[in-house]
Amino acid sequence: MPSGKRVSTHFEWTPDMSVGEETIDAQHQRLLAQLNKVIDAMLFGAESEEIVRAVDFFKTYADEHLAYEEAYMAQRGYSHLAEHQKYHDDFREKYRAFHEQLTSRHAPDGLLMEMEVYLGDWWMHHILLEDKKYYEALGPSEGRVPTPRPRATKLA
Ligand SMILES: [Fe+2]
Repeated sequence: MPSGKRVSTHFEWTPDMSVGEETIDAQHQRLLAQLNKVIDAMLFGAESEEIVRAVDFFKTYADEHLAYEEAYMAQRGYSHLAEHQKYHDDFREKYRAFHEQLTSRHAPDGLLMEMEVYLGDWWMHHILLEDKKYYEALGPSEGRVPTPRPRATKLA
């Protein structure tokens, strides 16, 4: 089992989390680093504007990453692409709902904590288990770089 771990409230990418494709690995590292910033903003009392900025940046970056990863799996002919895309779409949908609540005038109590727990759990689980499945099926990328295709479903 890979050892990517939760360090206090922070997440850390470790080499055994690699999925065999350089760009995706770099994106995962950056996503976790950005997630730490979102969590810091949420937990350590940053101004709400700052939280929204961190969440917005995370959204843009996550969206690009998910599209890139889908293009990669498609290019490599991954047989469980549709199933994997469904996980991504579920995330996009959930994130959209969070974002809507966060930017509404009456964000529910406990929203930040709920978001923090969801985002952390989702990404760690996804990278360690779901993304690992395509690595196990496809092996290393052998340097082929996919061209991300625009998708109809975007994050909020
Ligand atoms: Fe994925």
